[in-house]
Amino acid sequence: MNAAHARLWNLLGLGPLWTERAAATAGRFDAQATPEAAGAPVGRMNWDELERNVTGCTACGLCKGRTRTVFGVGSRDSEWMVIGEGPGAEEDLRGEPFVGQAGRLLDSILAAAGLGRSASGHAGVYIANVVKCRPPGNRNPEPDEVAHCEPYLRRQIELLRPRIILLLGRVAAQAMIGTDASIASLRGRVHRLEIGGSSVPTIVTYHPAYLLRNLADKAKVWADLCLAHEVFKRSERSPTR
Ligand code: URA
Ligand code: SF4
Repeated sequence: MNAAHARLWNLLGLGPLWTERAAATAGRFDAQATPEAAGAPVGRMNWDELERNVTGCTACGLCKGRTRTVFGVGSRDSEWMVIGEGPGAEEDLRGEPFVGQAGRLLDSILAAAGLGRSASGHAGVYIANVVKCRPPGNRNPEPDEVAHCEPYLRRQIELLRPRIILLLGRVAAQAMIGTDASIASLRGRVHRLEIGGSSVPTIVTYHPAYLLRNLADKAKVWADLCLAHEVFKRSERSPTR
């Protein structure tokens, strides 16, 4: 299935039905995993089923190079969600998002805003990536890899029902908002993600890996978090699905 097909299936709410498999073995992946395969549709899975499916997923070529899948971290009751691009080297080894240098910067920015991934006195944030397996050499994920993996993230959003989403960097903005506009032009305003029948306010900001190279833009990220807080206060949680 190519990227356009996968996207169409997803838009129609039909797929994909990646079946649960044994952990991927090097050199083997199943680009033909189709919605006709047996198993519950991703769009109806609960958290545990979804996580198990990701762990065994071989739907795109990224499974070949991974050490571990990186599903997501944080309380599943969190009202905030942060979405990055994909695992880097350290995340791939540990199976947790944003644990490298960029992750430490993210944690300190979130902490300054009273947010955190663990129960630590901060309001909870759930953190996930657009793709769950590490792209080789930290390249950007290809459109077909994003198309194959995105249903998992969409289901995570449906299950979490966040009151606000923060998209970090261009890959996340591109995948979720469907634009290749610059972060500079997307930040500073509220976007909406239409997911599972609800409309979630969404803020775009710079990726922490970019911030490590452009520290002067930290003030803009801070402003984006302040905007997110304002929007959060006015937002409501969507009903359970
Ligand atoms: N960058 C990301 O986008 N996600 C991670 O999990 C780590 C680095
Ligand atoms: Fe499956 Fe996503 Fe990993 Fe590709 S990146 S193998 S779609 S979990």
